[in-house]
Amino acid sequence: MASVEMKNIVKKYGDGFPAVNDVSLDIADGEFMILVGPSGCGKSTLLRMVVGLEDITSGDMIIGGTRVNDKAPRERNLSMVFQNYALYPHLSVFENIAFPLRLAKTPEAEVQEKVRAAADVLELHEHLDRKPANLSGGQRQRVAMGRAIVRDADAFLFDEPLSNLDAKLRGQMRTEIARLQRRLGITTIYVTHDQTEAMTLGDRVCVLRRGVIQQVASPRELYEQPVNLFVAGFIGSPPMNFLPAKLRNGTLATPFGDITLDPKRGADIGDRDLVLVGIRPEAFDDASLVDEAKKPYGSTFRARVDVTEWLGDSQFAYIPYEAPEEVVEQLKELSRELDSEALRTQAVVSIDSTSRIRAGREAEFWLDARKVHVFDPATGENLTRDSDAGAELTRLAEEQRAEEIDEARASGLTVEG
Ligand SMILES: Nc1ncnc2c1ncn2[C@@H]1O[C@H](COP(=O)(O)OP(=O)(O)OP(=O)(O)O)[C@@H](O)[C@H]1O
Ligand SMILES: [Mg+2]
Repeated sequence: MASVEMKNIVKKYGDGFPAVNDVSLDIADGEFMILVGPSGCGKSTLLRMVVGLEDITSGDMIIGGTRVNDKAPRERNLSMVFQNYALYPHLSVFENIAFPLRLAKTPEAEVQEKVRAAADVLELHEHLDRKPANLSGGQRQRVAMGRAIVRDADAFLFDEPLSNLDAKLRGQMRTEIARLQRRLGITTIYVTHDQTEAMTLGDRVCVLRRGVIQQVASPRELYEQPVNLFVAGFIGSPPMNFLPAKLRNGTLATPFGDITLDPKRGADIGDRDLVLVGIRPEAFDDASLVDEAKKPYGSTFRARVDVTEWLGDSQFAYIPYEAPEEVVEQLKELSRELDSEALRTQAVVSIDSTSRIRAGREAEFWLDARKVHVFDPATGENLTRDSDAGAELTRLAEEQRAEEIDEARASGLTVEG
């Protein structure tokens, strides 16, 4: 197993377009790193440069302490699992897993031992004599992973491995991959544009935009302390709401009334004629259902509800608001880039499922002032970000992760070469 270090990696294709632009990223031994971002942001290109399927224009790719820029893919000892995990239909599961060992002319006894060890971890031992066509999608995925495991690769690389499965199987496989990676403790880089996968699988998530890293952090840090408008809008579903506001003496004048910032937050922002206030749907609630003790931490406002969506365990209300033309344009631009349609001039708010708030009527809402972010509309920078609090979230995640790996290794479940 190995760490992966990328130093100032640049990839320019023939037409000079920088698909990956000065990416520096350190992935620790045993870490699960996610590369996420909208279509065309350079995720696959970056992964293919790690494996060696794509030349690196400039920068250093270092795997396990060795610079591999000039090494051929098979000298890098990595296992890549693609979207279509091509299994050989005429070979049994055993032989499919054994394939790389056969290629390397590994002695029979060792083949037997390695394939059986991998099958144990993957819970495939009952299926070793069967053919891939008779397996479920999830089992086939495990066979593909088995093939990767027996090679004793230094790292696993996945490029959207679940994107052609149906929603249910995708959920199952997500859990499976997370469990396996924990057990094996193998350094993993996983590309996806599905943010549920990004948030649930990764120890850390690297958000890319047009070939440039925006933020690398634990899922929780990305969610609670995004560095900019792009990350804030990309992570979270339904997405964060962005309201135009004027800032005077620490009070934001928004279409939903005044919000007073905690003096500790954004004290140094100063007065501004236009900022974008980011508020996640769950920072709102039906004012009549909010605890009196909690109310002083936020503000209440009245608004007309356009639509409500009752989902059993939760409920969303859509509240349209007025915004100046420049803000409307900017939100449109951002939604185009994020491949989303949700950033319209209407707020999506999450209210208690028992709320009696109805579409077409006015209602009173409460919003938690502690949870708002203030963004510079020109640069996108999050002006209220607390980097210490963010770093702490990522540190906690790393600590928890290290414990889990130790436990898995102590229980002897890892397959190591
Ligand atoms: N062979 C190529 N020649 C020229 N440009 C390319 C080539 N492959 C990719 N690109 C460009 O590089 C950029 C990054 O592409 P890449 O495939 O890495 O994106 P991605 O993040 O994996 O997107 P997706 O989510 O759609 O798979 C895109 O703008 C794409 O047009
Ligand atoms: Mg891709």
